[in-house]
Amino acid sequence: MKRPYVICHMCTTIDAKVLGDRWSKLPGGKAGGNLFETTAARFGIDAWLVGTTTMKEFSGRAAKLRPPPAPVRPGDFVANPKAKSFAIGIDAKGVLRFQSGDVDGDHVVLLITERVSDAYRAHLRKAGVSYLLCGPTRVDLPRAMNKLYTTLGLRKLMLEGGGRLNGSMLQAGLVDEISQVVLPIVDGGGPGVTGFFDPPGRPPRSAAASLRLLGHESLKGGAHWFRYRVRR
Ligand SMILES: NC(=O)c1ccc[n+]([C@@H]2O[C@H](COP(=O)([O-])OP(=O)(O)OC[C@H]3O[C@@H](n4cnc5c(N)ncnc54)[C@H](OP(=O)(O)O)[C@@H]3O)[C@@H](O)[C@H]2O)c1
Repeated sequence: MKRPYVICHMCTTIDAKVLGDRWSKLPGGKAGGNLFETTAARFGIDAWLVGTTTMKEFSGRAAKLRPPPAPVRPGDFVANPKAKSFAIGIDAKGVLRFQSGDVDGDHVVLLITERVSDAYRAHLRKAGVSYLLCGPTRVDLPRAMNKLYTTLGLRKLMLEGGGRLNGSMLQAGLVDEISQVVLPIVDGGGPGVTGFFDPPGRPPRSAAASLRLLGHESLKGGAHWFRYRVRR
């Protein structure tokens, strides 16, 4: 199955927790989020993918859905065929809202399911958001990756959290590289705080992947950046 090459990039504490709003600034005054952006930019990949919870941080204000004035055409919808960079989110249930079709200049694409209403599809169309149907009730991740490859022509993709989506993508064998910026912070919050790879459901019997180190850099403020290839 054709799909983009996927690099999972995250900024974490030494105990692999990912909730940046719990972190203080690094020595030198920089925020962890800053290092997330500067290291991500080094890949030069113009498409990023996040889960529903993370996409909420980039989506618009709550808005009541109105019944569509006319039936909505079935199938996928590409609002901006000329887009060069993409902000991709998962939204199986149709809970996100958008007032425009871009996030910081990246064209918004949602991976949705057949369960979302016509009113929701009409809302996305009006906002200029593209959507791809990826399953009856759940987003079928392999199918979603294949659609991103064939419909949008994406060859590389940055998977940027949160832990639930990262975990599901890794379990499905859809992650090729892992890029981890480790900050000199211990979260200490235990299982109640989202981690790097936190798939929903029961833990698998064995570790999800073994890795080959591709590179390491020391960063400002005592942070470290590790890049790994997932071994197949
Ligand atoms: N430190 C970092 O580098 C970094 C980067 C990104 C995000 N974050 C943080 O991570 C937090 C969110 O992480 P999270 O793990 O709670 O949420 P998430 O991965 O952003 O979103 C998970 C949600 O996506 C939906 N989903 C739909 N289809 C899915 C599928 N096939 N597999 C997995 N999820 C699917 C599910 O919601 P439904 O069941 O309701 O559909 C699921 O609960 C935020 O606080 C964010 O700030 C940190």
